Amino acid sequence: MADPSSSPQLFNVQIDGVWHQFPKGTRVIEACAQFGVYVPRYCYHKKLSSPGNCRMCLIEMGFPRLGPDGKAELGADGKPITNWIPRPQISCAQDVSEGMAVRTNSPLVRECQRGVMEFLLINHPLDCPICDQAGECRLQEFSVDFGESKSRFLENKVKKPKNVQIGPRVTLDDERCILCSRCIRFCQEIAHDDVLGFVDRGSYTVLTAHPGKLLENNYSLNTVDICPVGALTSTDFRFKMRVWFLKETKSICTSCATGCNTVIGSREDVIYRQTPRENDHVNSCWMCDYGRLNFKHLEAENRLLEPQIRFEGKLIPADWPTAIAQAALQLKQFSGPEIAIIASGRMTNEELWLTSQLAKLLGVQWIDIVPRRGPSDNILLSRDRNPNTNGTRLILGSGSEPGAKLMAITDAVKSGQIKALVILKENTMHMGIPGEQLVQLPVFIALNVLQNEATEKATVVLPACGFAEKRGSMVNGKGRLQRLNRAVRAPGNAHDDWETLRDLLQAIGGGDSLSSIEDVFRQISETVPQFAGLSLSKIGDLGVHILQIDELAPIHPSDEEAIEQAIAIQARRRVVRQQIHHA
Ligand code: SF4
Ligand code: SF4
Ligand code: FES
Repeated sequence: MADPSSSPQLFNVQIDGVWHQFPKGTRVIEACAQFGVYVPRYCYHKKLSSPGNCRMCLIEMGFPRLGPDGKAELGADGKPITNWIPRPQISCAQDVSEGMAVRTNSPLVRECQRGVMEFLLINHPLDCPICDQAGECRLQEFSVDFGESKSRFLENKVKKPKNVQIGPRVTLDDERCILCSRCIRFCQEIAHDDVLGFVDRGSYTVLTAHPGKLLENNYSLNTVDICPVGALTSTDFRFKMRVWFLKETKSICTSCATGCNTVIGSREDVIYRQTPRENDHVNSCWMCDYGRLNFKHLEAENRLLEPQIRFEGKLIPADWPTAIAQAALQLKQFSGPEIAIIASGRMTNEELWLTSQLAKLLGVQWIDIVPRRGPSDNILLSRDRNPNTNGTRLILGSGSEPGAKLMAITDAVKSGQIKALVILKENTMHMGIPGEQLVQLPVFIALNVLQNEATEKATVVLPACGFAEKRGSMVNGKGRLQRLNRAVRAPGNAHDDWETLRDLLQAIGGGDSLSSIEDVFRQISETVPQFAGLSLSKIGDLGVHILQIDELAPIHPSDEEAIEQAIAIQARRRVVRQQIHHA
């Protein structure tokens, strides 16, 4: 039986004449929203503190009338009689209490809303037609819903700074700022970088960065999301596209193991922006700037657009059936111990599953992924910069930690023990295998998004899709299975990676009855216990928790050493590349 002491205390609260029950601690503004009564707000954000400074959420509020015995007096309906507070109250900083009553649409409330809108618009510039926030501007929307159609203001508007580069990624238009302080509180409370503040208090109050500081933390673009007006805009996105033209696709960020939930905004196969999507199990309402802007490579000039095969020493374009047939033919020349597969922690579960089937069919033991690490920030950014390391643990499940065999594979390639190398979504040049060594390989099959020094040496090149060009699933660092979705079509003749791997598998003699990505997922769910009973559609938009992190075996010290060694080689290669680039 449920312990009654564990259930939250419920309060009876009247909203616009109807009684409801809410748990103790519910904000009045949230209580109203739960029953479809939207109270307009500017400064209130449910994930930040409530300073109550914009006054847009004013309502009428009352409490039970108490009799001489100190108990609430009851009306004919058996409910408490309300003593209304004569002045309006803000609803964003007050929790519900027993017998509380609120009115959200009375003549007084509507008058308050009109008054607040009139004050807010006094100094606001009339540049809505050219403002980048149009389509998502709360000032425009509330002006229509709660404001007046004409202004009584005859004096000159206060002029404030425009087009201020307040940080490397954020542009500030102070004239539009309504001084709600959301951006200031975000930086203090979430990003832990107290960089913004109001100065020159009075009619000339402006938002600015503290002297000698910039809004340059890795979460700066979240201030653009939460700014209710067009004061803070993304320097990258502004003036590129009207938001109502954007197609919105729910997906996840694949730039680290956190897997922040996102909305990809695209039009005609071009991605214009990524914004965070609320998921309290993963990223709350936020995402980092690094992940948010990490989509430009999908339009890079060095995208691989056509399959290619090596013929008389040169890579020449080929159609897909020819390229797949060539790859299969080349791989079949060698036995399992002579073949290595380097997969990627950036691949989806479905792609990893097909890779594991390919390895099984060819008898390959040399299979691993490339580990990728960077500093964590204790906010969202994970130390593991691969989005699906846990997927590789579950699906490739090779008995050692992902990345631990990589150096051994590299050594086997260098020693000539490996004759055929398949590299999927990774660059061998980062792993310490020099170009001269790659040229010596009789078979070198590369599946990748971008052309690089390694793909140039391949015997077969298979163009791949980027994270926003395909469907699939991944398991984040905390064990949550999540879906990524296709926002744009891949350019040229690049194929969805799961199809390429399925075709290769079938050309070698396996992979029967796989006609859709759902079929691949079904095979995973029938084989990997953590996926049992799930399907791509059952994962849902917010994901499902499938793995307790303590279920994972602790990393063996020798694995850790091998992984660190592989990462160190990548880092050294990166430095050398940068030096060459700058020279
Ligand atoms: S810039 Fe935007 S978020 Fe910041 S105080 Fe002004 S209106 Fe609010
Ligand atoms: S924290 Fe990780 S998953 Fe989230 S946006 Fe940043 S890089 Fe992407
Ligand atoms: S939303 Fe309540 S005062 Fe601003």
